[in-house]
Amino acid sequence: MEQKRVFSGMRPTGRLQLGNLLGALENWVKLQDEYKCIFSVADWHAMTTSYDDPSELKENTMQMVIDWLSAGLDPEKSIIFCQSDVKEHAELHLLFSMFTPLSWLERVPTYKDQIQQLREKNLATYGFLGYPLLQAADILLYRADAVPVGEDQVPHVEMTREIARRFNYLYQTDFFPEPQALLTKIKLLPGIDGRKMSKSYGNTIEMSDSPQEIAKKVNQMVTDPGRIRKTDPGNPEVCTVFAFHQVFNPEGVEGVERACRRGEIGCVQCKKQLIKHLNAYLEPIYEKRKVLEGQRDYIIDLLREGAKQAKEIAVNTMEQVFALVGFKL
Ligand code: TRP
Ligand code: SF4
Repeated sequence: MEQKRVFSGMRPTGRLQLGNLLGALENWVKLQDEYKCIFSVADWHAMTTSYDDPSELKENTMQMVIDWLSAGLDPEKSIIFCQSDVKEHAELHLLFSMFTPLSWLERVPTYKDQIQQLREKNLATYGFLGYPLLQAADILLYRADAVPVGEDQVPHVEMTREIARRFNYLYQTDFFPEPQALLTKIKLLPGIDGRKMSKSYGNTIEMSDSPQEIAKKVNQMVTDPGRIRKTDPGNPEVCTVFAFHQVFNPEGVEGVERACRRGEIGCVQCKKQLIKHLNAYLEPIYEKRKVLEGQRDYIIDLLREGAKQAKEIAVNTMEQVFALVGFKL
């Protein structure tokens, strides 16, 4: 039996945050051993919101791919490439646009939300409306069986299934499989100020932060504001440091909780422990990144080679699609 195929992508928006590592990347790394994996830098998707200033996309792509490799994505195992290097994505997207009712796109829940959230940009564009359709083209171009994504992307995978069904119905075929979303359980991490982690709040931890930066950020983390002296009993459930202990110090977290509630540990010491655990986890990634940063040519070559491999599959799909549609002589 042929190995099942996994496809996923990320928009190149800069260095990845800790949440991207835990929520998606770690999962991708594991999937590499079980599936034929294809991972794409979704630069066309980034263009839907950065069309007014795409100049950063190049460097963002470089940084994101370095993050991917530092976390353990392996070009020997998986196909890693840039969406815009394989023109068939645009071609299949265009074909899909012929038969996709506008109402399907308008009712995608992320659509109106995003327009609201990014009000400073004009997203009342044709391209932004087509965002989920482009994603459907990404996935179906490789006839992927599974798509590892976070909860927020589920409507897009659902749309992909509808597009596959519509194509199969219109052209009386079963060519496109309906892909499954592989949901990643997200261990939710707050930002260092306790609010939602977000670039716009300036409270993020990047997966590429140095051990010194990690220490500095942990030391800035907000703790239980009710604790003045270190002998005051604390409430770990309102503490950001504790939220991180839960994820990065699973063995010690019970001890931390007990000591905090009994006022037997000071926040300074508690943070010190967290720094140790966080760095044990991130330092190997950081070290790998340092090496890769000096190997930009290698990254460029790897993306070129990935595009070649992706293209082989993509061209084959498009030949069959054109034959099914009966479009060309
Ligand atoms: N829309 C996805 C996101 O913002 C990125 C993406 C683009 C993607 N193409 C994809 C995800 C194909 C899965 C499959 O996270
Ligand atoms: Fe938070 Fe630790 Fe201080 Fe308790 S002891 S409030 S868990 S930093």
